[in-house]
Amino acid sequence: MRNFKVFSACILLALTAISAKADNVIYKDASQPIEKRVEDLVARMTLEEKVLQLNQYTLGRNDNVNNVAEILKKLPAELGSVIYFNSDPDLRNQVQRQAMEKSRLGIPMIFGYDVIHGYRTVYPISLAQACSWNSGLVEQACAVAAQEARMSGVDWTFSPMVDVARDGRWGRVSEGYGEDPYANAVFGVASIKGYQGNDMSDSQRVAACLKHYVGYGASEGGRDYVYTEISPQTLWDTYMLPYEEGVKAGAATLMSCFNDISGTPGTANSYILREILKNRWKHDGFVVSDWGAIQQLRSQGVAKDLKEAGLKAFTAGVEMDMMNNSYDKHLVDLVNEGKVPMAMVDDAVKRVLRVKFRLGLFEKPYTSTTTEKERFLLPANLKIAQQLAEESIVLLKNDNNILPLTKQSNVAVIGPMAKDKLNLLGSWSAHGKQDDVTSIYDGLVAELGKKVKLSYAEGCEFDGDNTSKFAEAVSVANKSEVIILCLGEKKGWSGENASRSTLALPKIQEDLVLELKKTGKPIVLLLSSGRPLELNRLEKLSDAMLEIWQPGIMSGQAVAGILSGRVNPSGKLSITFPYSTGQIPIYYNMRQSGRTHQGKYQDIPTTPLYEFTHGLSYTNYEYGDIKASATKIKRGDKLSLDITVSNSGKMDGKETVHWFIYDPVSTISRPVKELKHFEKQLIKAGESKTFRFEVDLERDFGFVDGTGKRFLESGDYYVIVKDKKIKIELD
Ligand code: GLC
Repeated sequence: MRNFKVFSACILLALTAISAKADNVIYKDASQPIEKRVEDLVARMTLEEKVLQLNQYTLGRNDNVNNVAEILKKLPAELGSVIYFNSDPDLRNQVQRQAMEKSRLGIPMIFGYDVIHGYRTVYPISLAQACSWNSGLVEQACAVAAQEARMSGVDWTFSPMVDVARDGRWGRVSEGYGEDPYANAVFGVASIKGYQGNDMSDSQRVAACLKHYVGYGASEGGRDYVYTEISPQTLWDTYMLPYEEGVKAGAATLMSCFNDISGTPGTANSYILREILKNRWKHDGFVVSDWGAIQQLRSQGVAKDLKEAGLKAFTAGVEMDMMNNSYDKHLVDLVNEGKVPMAMVDDAVKRVLRVKFRLGLFEKPYTSTTTEKERFLLPANLKIAQQLAEESIVLLKNDNNILPLTKQSNVAVIGPMAKDKLNLLGSWSAHGKQDDVTSIYDGLVAELGKKVKLSYAEGCEFDGDNTSKFAEAVSVANKSEVIILCLGEKKGWSGENASRSTLALPKIQEDLVLELKKTGKPIVLLLSSGRPLELNRLEKLSDAMLEIWQPGIMSGQAVAGILSGRVNPSGKLSITFPYSTGQIPIYYNMRQSGRTHQGKYQDIPTTPLYEFTHGLSYTNYEYGDIKASATKIKRGDKLSLDITVSNSGKMDGKETVHWFIYDPVSTISRPVKELKHFEKQLIKAGESKTFRFEVDLERDFGFVDGTGKRFLESGDYYVIVKDKKIKIELD
């Protein structure tokens, strides 16, 4: 049967090619090179058809498939794209059929959607994924997301978000890979590979979208959508790297940002969009605006009306208009008025068509009909989601090795997050369902229920001032040997438009900890959040603390695996946890400052509570000294560095070695240290593993200036791993 299917598909393809050849329509001929097809198609298009290709509306958000006739009326057959909010192929296929059969040239639409950390199989938020330091696993998770999305009618995800972010008050810190440029670059590239694979026309791959280009994470005060003050030097040495690496990795699209970059909004910024992205980096895909980012140019004070906003965005280099209704209303006039050259429109349309051809949409415009069971929550995919959740969890504190729970037979599970499911999904959870989530309590029952008595009390709500449930929590705690206290944030407290003035949990949650502390029982504190938290008070009250983030549908299995000792925690922080909110901005790679012995806070410590890459294990790792292939080198030399790590404990574990460099004297003041490489390996109990860093001198020792030009200067450099360092003299 399968051979017949393959045979008939080949016949169909051949017939299509023959018919296209027969009427000599190159763009319909799949045997032709994509560039020839693009040129042929654009040459056939009217200005109106070209402009409609540059617009994106929504579909399915408030629509249902029963009133498809109404929907089809509002969507022009020549429209370029929609954001697809449904999770079935049916409605998509009906709208696509209109594009293919009711338009003059039969150009397929591209269907986009925010698949940020899973489509239906929701895995940990991106900030958590980075704590796994397992880029291969992140790639696998993104491939799962791509499979579920493409099979549900989505061809294009507005992901990965690679905005370096250091201010936890900004809710979108949850959506990126933390405070380090290199980490955002590595995980951004891994995501692109997972989404796009080697061939985007594969029916289980989607086009990626690097966002939000660029500098959104510098939002002042952590307030969303506001001003970002970014010097050219900081633009290049902090924010641009993940985008440059993502474009090199073949990201099909980018999304322009809301924020203005020191006065010039990213969505009207020809320097980043045209001079750098198109001319210097040679990106040949397209840029879509963020939702409404073009019309916002008016409120940002750089456009008097929607038409001028469209003119500024389009000429700056934004090819597609997401829900601004600016290009569809004004671009034809702007061309006819001579304000926008037709050549610029043609270039924009070619970029959109190029991505559509690469996605195979002209040959396969429709999504095959499958059941939800065939698409979603496949066992192999659940395993990937669970492993990523397990490897993302960070053990912050473990006094007297109270964890894992191997001695206790009577455990209290308390707190608003103990039986919660919805909030463990995190923000941007796409089609994730609360019922798919295993709660922490249920995970513990499944993992330990046979040998441990588990008792539950809610203790308090996430916020408010209702202490009426404290007494029951205290009573349950008094009858137990240890308290697993599950606190944290609601999913809506992070993500877009979710800024908070403090990283501290609501007072009611801290008061519950104080109340339970009075019982004298040891407290294992589990924290589920979309941002770094202010934990200096809770740290003193707890015997162990884990940041579990928002682990997704496999939360319960992952948390229980770690608490029981089935899994040895291997997560390490991808973002600094400040001692208190007042320290913000605080991050590991701060520039060297004038006086390190002065300038301290008078009222609080000046160091963070938990540093970037902090994370404990149930075993012990001993680090040897760094060995270098040479310590005196000149340009062009090869340099490799090794370090051997021994697992001197009783438990196998996965350890990540982070390699930093430090350049004490340079033309510009460089950070106190900079992450340049990391590697994670399994090290069995009693064994040792060697980790190697192959240095590329330009890439790893060099720095970029405010124009993006890379420099490598002679002098002394230090390579640092934990408290080990070695000096390298570069001639
Ligand atoms: C939102 C977000 C962006 C998202 C887009 C489409 O405003 O800023 O990240 O991809 O709109 O939902």
